[in-house]
Amino acid sequence: MILQDLIRKLEDLEARSSGLVAGSVTLAELESVRNKLVGRKSGELGGLVKILPSLAPSDRRDAGAAVNRVKQAIELTLADRQAALAESASEPARPRDLTMPARHLWRGGRHPVTQVIDDIESIFRELGFTIALGPEAETEWYNFSALNFPADHPAMDLHDTLYLGENIVLRTHTSPVQIRTMQQFPPPIRILAPGNVYRRDFFDASHAPMFAQIEGLAVDEGISFVDLKATLTYFARRFFGPARTRFRPSFFPFTEPSAEMDVECRLCRGSGCAGCRNSGWMEILGSGMVHPRVLEAAGIDGEKYTGWAFGMGPGRIAMLRYGIPDIRLLYDSDMRFLDQIAG
Ligand code: PHE
Repeated sequence: MILQDLIRKLEDLEARSSGLVAGSVTLAELESVRNKLVGRKSGELGGLVKILPSLAPSDRRDAGAAVNRVKQAIELTLADRQAALAESASEPARPRDLTMPARHLWRGGRHPVTQVIDDIESIFRELGFTIALGPEAETEWYNFSALNFPADHPAMDLHDTLYLGENIVLRTHTSPVQIRTMQQFPPPIRILAPGNVYRRDFFDASHAPMFAQIEGLAVDEGISFVDLKATLTYFARRFFGPARTRFRPSFFPFTEPSAEMDVECRLCRGSGCAGCRNSGWMEILGSGMVHPRVLEAAGIDGEKYTGWAFGMGPGRIAMLRYGIPDIRLLYDSDMRFLDQIAG
């Protein structure tokens, strides 16, 4: 071999060695690269040194100098890499940024309307009421006919809405659950039926085309208007605290007589404010004695049994309770609002 060949081999080794060294990512890998390049026994550089005696004596000095230069260069890159790997091995695996804000835990909370429904349910549970549920897609018969709505009655205007087919309507109130319950269970009946209802209504500060209702129904022998008034007044005291209540005559096709119940406005305590349109009162429910025709439609003997019923809007009650000025806040899913009331 001649000197030029040896020098080319040395240059090649030097060039490859920097790639191999840089590609070692652990100290152990770097050690085996060191053995392969400059190891005493089988290192590539040692192989090239063995060529030296076969060169012409006049070339041996230059060859030895070239070998030493490459050996030093390789050893320098090995040492640099070793220092870098040793330093990173003593550091944690992942970089830490102690100024980064911590991730907080997401806590679930009950929606204000759900809280109101839960609280109303627990008061009536103590009085012996159980929970009944009915479908939101309801037949005209359950939603209207069985509840004594004449086909063209003006009370149907708000209810004339959202038909899904010939005789199927998105229920406009929870009262059809009265019928379904009376068909299924003989008296005595005491149920509470929460659920969503649908109306042809605007979506503004005080109306929504979909909202929750809670129906109540008690049917037994000898039930009178006294039971209705006493139970609902007791409920209002339990729920609202010592607030005045009043009953106003009203009309529903499925109750006779009918009454609406008002509670003293919680925002102004009866003195009149924007929340109660200056009346000092807030209407919380409609109620009445179950119309005998409704009992008969559901297959219950109206001579033997009487009953009372009510329907209230937990959304409106949530607004009263928490002083919420706009019903749309209940549907916006805005966490800044919900977080303030979440329970
Ligand atoms: N269903 C009536 C409504 O939606 C409320 C009501 C229920 C009234 C039960 C009387 C008895 O407005």
